[in-house]
Amino acid sequence: MIESPVMPTERTEQQMPMVRFVLNGQPQAIVVAEGETLLETLRERFGLTSLKDGCSPQGQCGCCLVQIDGRALTSCTMTTHAVDGKEVVTLEGLEEPERRMLARCFVAAGGVQCGFCIPGFVARTSVLLRRHPEPPREQIKKQLGSHLCRCTGYAKIVDAVELAAKVTRGELPLPEAEAEVAVGRCPPRYLGERYALGQEPFVADLNAPGMLHGALRLVDHPRACLARVDLSRARALPGVERIVTAADVRGARRYGLGEQDWPSFLAVGEISCYVGDVVAAVAAVDRRTARQAAALIEVAYDEVLEPITDPFAALQPAAPSVHPERDNLLSTTAYDRGGDVGAALSSSAHRVQQRFVTQTIEHLYLEPEACLVVVDEAGELQIYSQGQGIYNDRQQLSKALGLPLEALHVTLVSNGGAFGGKEDLSVQVQTALLAQLCGRPVMTVLSREESIRIHPKRHPFTLDYELACDVEGKLTALRASLVADTGAYASVGPKVVERAAGHACGPYFVPVVDVEARCVYTNNPPNGAMRGFGVNQAAFAIEQLLDRLAEKAGIDSYQIRERNLLREGQRFGPGQKLTNCQGLMRTLEAVKEHYYGGRYAGLACGIKNVGIGNGKIDMGQVRIEVADGGALRVGHGMTEMGQGLNTVVLQLICDVAGLDSAIESSVSVCTDQDLDCGMTTASRATMLVGNAAIDAAKKLRADLDSVGGGLIALEGRSYLGQFVCDWTVAPESQVDEPVTHVSFGFAAQVVLLDEQSGKVNRVVAAHDVGRAIHPKLCEGQIEGSIHMGLGQALSEDLQLEGGWPQNTTVRKIGVLRSHQTPDIEVILVEEPEPLGPFGARGVGEIGLVPTAPAVAQALYRFDGRRRTRLPMRDNYEKPRR
Ligand code: FES
Repeated sequence: MIESPVMPTERTEQQMPMVRFVLNGQPQAIVVAEGETLLETLRERFGLTSLKDGCSPQGQCGCCLVQIDGRALTSCTMTTHAVDGKEVVTLEGLEEPERRMLARCFVAAGGVQCGFCIPGFVARTSVLLRRHPEPPREQIKKQLGSHLCRCTGYAKIVDAVELAAKVTRGELPLPEAEAEVAVGRCPPRYLGERYALGQEPFVADLNAPGMLHGALRLVDHPRACLARVDLSRARALPGVERIVTAADVRGARRYGLGEQDWPSFLAVGEISCYVGDVVAAVAAVDRRTARQAAALIEVAYDEVLEPITDPFAALQPAAPSVHPERDNLLSTTAYDRGGDVGAALSSSAHRVQQRFVTQTIEHLYLEPEACLVVVDEAGELQIYSQGQGIYNDRQQLSKALGLPLEALHVTLVSNGGAFGGKEDLSVQVQTALLAQLCGRPVMTVLSREESIRIHPKRHPFTLDYELACDVEGKLTALRASLVADTGAYASVGPKVVERAAGHACGPYFVPVVDVEARCVYTNNPPNGAMRGFGVNQAAFAIEQLLDRLAEKAGIDSYQIRERNLLREGQRFGPGQKLTNCQGLMRTLEAVKEHYYGGRYAGLACGIKNVGIGNGKIDMGQVRIEVADGGALRVGHGMTEMGQGLNTVVLQLICDVAGLDSAIESSVSVCTDQDLDCGMTTASRATMLVGNAAIDAAKKLRADLDSVGGGLIALEGRSYLGQFVCDWTVAPESQVDEPVTHVSFGFAAQVVLLDEQSGKVNRVVAAHDVGRAIHPKLCEGQIEGSIHMGLGQALSEDLQLEGGWPQNTTVRKIGVLRSHQTPDIEVILVEEPEPLGPFGARGVGEIGLVPTAPAVAQALYRFDGRRRTRLPMRDNYEKPRR
């Protein structure tokens, strides 16, 4: 069994004089190496894992906050020597009543999603309330401005601080956990208080006896032929145990979620495809030594080539190939419907045409990629992963390592945010190979800079749209041509592009449609899954053209949407007849007064598929085991990554089986459970795992009723639940009545600007969620998505030059801070989805689909300028550089 917290590791640095300080009330006197940071000391020597490493040594995310002589400071930016003679307090050192109170307030307010950032916020709250017992909301937002949260949109974190302030002042009692767990209620997030206090381990918090640390040596050029790798200097470094290269790979060297094009290691004689290609991996006694050794690996290149960075240039017939064995056009999705689009466009009363360009976006989940692999006596591998699909991880690892599936056991550890970015393998293959060859556990954790350099991003798209309507403003035809830069490797790029094409018409009925979308290899970092999966890029185009047509037709943005929103039985983009879509119009009606009430208000609608669909089988599986004492042990195959899946699963089980909050229950996800559900993606977890949980719970309920004696009487029994959707088809299929997706989510959002400054100061978002199983978590998902959508609209842009990311610090990525995030009002519309658990639809992604075009329209109303490129930086207070 894996131990946590982290235990002291052998150190190899030059020793320095003693540092004396008080840590959580206890005097300490330790010798530390030169340059050792306080974060390293506290985590590695003292096992204080409430401090998370989100960006060290940048000091820009706030996850490693400590109190030093009563001041809140980041521990990754200071050396341990700097605290000589000072008093250091971490969350672990606060008095127990304060710890409990803060944790309870954060959970009660719904402020804990993935939980990786939360201990930093909790530590900040402790300091803040000591200094300012009655902080106004704006002051709280400002004080939290040095922290990042990628999940919540901050609203519920600010609520939590306000609640804690009131409890501290005695104005409110300590919030009680909601006892009712039934559907529609808001019981505490599963393990929420443990996450708030940093007690629930993430991968990087784990340890194993004899554990080594891994580090990667990456290429030096995005496109260069690898000539030689010299390991001699690295091998000579004391503390280095093993270095592996392509020559050590025993299985298939290339892997991928679709195409098998991504090498675990670049081999001598091969041409690199991007700056994240791995040349070698090192295992050493500690992380510093491993990194030092990786930097000592000398790499020579035969030829450094000009990288291909523009997808249009990559499509030229004379363009060199990113992958020598094929051309750069990775995939095309094309479909047409309704007749001759050219004729329909030219015979329409009004017609608009425009090119739109969207940017590359970094996920910036707060938890960087990490993996721990332990080899057991039989040579089997225990893999501790944070991935979005541990069964996919296992399959790919099996091929990459040349091991049978049965020899690989992947356990999901807490996931500190993913948003699509943890679907692909990151460090798992290299770490597993090191562990295999060393015969010892190996842990690899990427730095923030490496994470940004290596993992897939959001696709930048160029969208050429032509849209027409009749005199009444009813849409008549759409022609769309989309080109997406998918970077160096396929990842799920073809699927993202397929999804963008499928949603090209947005939530509107367009009788004549012609869409082509191409996915193109370049030498930029790969682009893959990210919240919205291509749909938000398409929305930026269609929604804005709708506003332009409205202007031509002499109607407003509300009226044109009202006239064209999909009705029951009308065909969505590729041709699926929508059913149960009344909620779409209800979302529009729900924001009507806000649109007409705001002088500078922008309006946009959204539709987003639930489930992968497009011909792929969507499946959910859940097993409930009744353990000793009648405790429930629940297993499923998807990843809790802050969306509240585990909480929702327990709620559904309790509701259906007639159980209450007093039962002891736990949730785990491991490939040994044999509950493959595929990837946690496409807003599908609640639909698939939720339905499977209901199926299992019904069987449990039947036994409870028939056997009698409660759960104790069922000890040892288990109940498997399943839900399978196998009836969808691909968008380009020629069937008469295509069903491309099992379900859809619907939304309408209004963005309101400050009348003086033109800054966004409020977003009103109406979402048809079918049924809010846990309203607070549901709201939190939408708030977090909108926060991400505002970043897409205004501030986020991973700029690339010559294939290199230009902004590799957290601050420069441009994620909005708490004081930059406007108020968000969420209106939950509940039109039940017949196939959804209790009628629920997935809400993981749709929150940001309408946001950027709504911002664009609001800005247009403010200054009369149309924006066609993202981000629309001109209206955003730029981050400090
Ligand atoms: Fe803040 Fe996930 S809860 S980053």
